[in-house]
Amino acid sequence: MKGYFISFEGGEGCGKSTQIKALAKNLEARGREVLLTREPGGTPLGEALRNLIQHDSEGQAMCPEAELLLFAASRAQLAREVIQPALNAGKIVLCDRYLDSTTVYQGVARALDPAQVAAINQFAAGTVRPHYTLLLDLDPETGLQRVNTRSKGALDRMEREPLEFFRAVRQGYLDLAANEPERIRVFDASLDPETLSQQICDALERILT
Ligand code: TMP
Repeated sequence: MKGYFISFEGGEGCGKSTQIKALAKNLEARGREVLLTREPGGTPLGEALRNLIQHDSEGQAMCPEAELLLFAASRAQLAREVIQPALNAGKIVLCDRYLDSTTVYQGVARALDPAQVAAINQFAAGTVRPHYTLLLDLDPETGLQRVNTRSKGALDRMEREPLEFFRAVRQGYLDLAANEPERIRVFDASLDPETLSQQICDALERILT
């Protein structure tokens, strides 16, 4: 069986983790071998970088250029150590964030040069690119409220960005989806989790059969 690479994207609090787990269960119940991973992270190196980017005090003064390169480093390792081998073994890879996060968070919200961001994405990911991407679209006010409730106000470095930053993230994602409608499908993440999960499973069933 051929491997298939699916990424999940969306702003903070859009419910990616819940939906990925539900989809993994559904696919496994249908006899598919699934590999679940995330960005930044997914490898020992990537998880250390994740901590540096999100929580470590050493990362607090990080400039946007350094941030971009750390996300890229995490991705380079994940693509080669985990994703490509899983695809070669015929698995369905479900990845919580991938290339599009960098395009949108660093290339749009941080306002780095999109052409340079694209070049670094290309260098980091090479040919390891998602076949299909689910964008869980949610207004940032609702998303940040969910994050605040979940973390009881203990926000990480990215989550402390102002609302304007997350408005730019949302618009960046929607523009990307409009440019690549074949690959990126937008889902309404304000739906209740069960309804959303059903929509996602139905969409994937059509694609994977
Ligand atoms: P999350 O995995 O809990 O959503 O947190 C990851 C954070 O890192 C989130 O704020 C999005 C951000 N991020 C980027 O800014 N660029 C990237 O390339 C990736 C993968 C994540």
